[in-house]
Amino acid sequence: MLDRIRELGTEARAALEGAATPAELEDARVRYLGRKSELNQVSRGLKDLEPDKRREVGRAVNEIKKELNALLESAKERIEAAEAGADTLDLTLPGRTPWVGRKHPLTRTLERLTSIFRGLGFEVALGPHVEDDFHNFDALNIPADHPARDGWDTFYIDGDTLLRTHTSPVQIRVMQSQTPPIRIIAPGRVYRNETPDASHGSEFFQLEGLYVDRGVTFGELKGVLTRFMRELYGENVNLRFRAGFFPFTEPSTEVDVECRICHGSGCSVCSGTGWVELLGAGMVDPRVFEAVGIDPDVYTGYAFGLGVDRICMMMTGTDDIRLFLENDLRFLRQI
Ligand code: PHE
Repeated sequence: MLDRIRELGTEARAALEGAATPAELEDARVRYLGRKSELNQVSRGLKDLEPDKRREVGRAVNEIKKELNALLESAKERIEAAEAGADTLDLTLPGRTPWVGRKHPLTRTLERLTSIFRGLGFEVALGPHVEDDFHNFDALNIPADHPARDGWDTFYIDGDTLLRTHTSPVQIRVMQSQTPPIRIIAPGRVYRNETPDASHGSEFFQLEGLYVDRGVTFGELKGVLTRFMRELYGENVNLRFRAGFFPFTEPSTEVDVECRICHGSGCSVCSGTGWVELLGAGMVDPRVFEAVGIDPDVYTGYAFGLGVDRICMMMTGTDDIRLFLENDLRFLRQI
């Protein structure tokens, strides 16, 4: 009988300690400590035993019941604590910082540029990425078979459908649908079929600007671009206006900024020259006005096209334009 009691004790201990839910614990309690449990039956049968035996067995049963009742209590606490989560709540642990995403550096650059030009009175206009020859070339005074088309290595989709090689077709669309005064910027992605290297990608971003009104001058163009560069890089920025050529502007200029990465001493971003070309600009060619039905004898205008990626490279100290589109989080997190 004593052996059986010991056996029951071992079983009951395992059942109480192993119970993981209130229901499991209740099952164990009913089975080993309940009214109909084997231990209880032993208690009830004590009176039929001889006095010596009765004392011995009685003590063993009482001891084991006492132990099991204590175990039952601690198991109850353990299960309640686990259910409340208190088991895993360690107040000394550092908090978990929520993972917050950020805008892509190119998006942030575009937003910054857009906000400067908005401050200067420009409104945002957008156009399609899949364009036709007319808007991307012909209307911009770059007729078919004209050698100037070689300057824009074009991804053709078919026939006269292509991926826009610059944001200048947005100028055409805006001038077709609005009457002067027109003062817009057109930020967006453009595509060129050229071999990518550290400073050229087959897709990149431009920001086009166009101002058309009576009496717009080249001096205003220089003024607005200088103001813009100073907003962006500070009052002491060094700029260089070089004479340039674009079929859709006359006269034309290319504007360089002193390289912000090497500060003029020469690096891979500025190809060792100390200057980085950031934009092309000029006075809208009368042929362009004719293509969109604006009278060149009444109106003049200026246009410019900024290279957004180059600006972003210098703002972030990035020396390879390809990094912007590779989506490598190790790179993006550094910025
Ligand atoms: N569209 C030209 C380019 O991609 C830039 C430009 C825009 C030049 C507007 C002059 C005026 O190279």
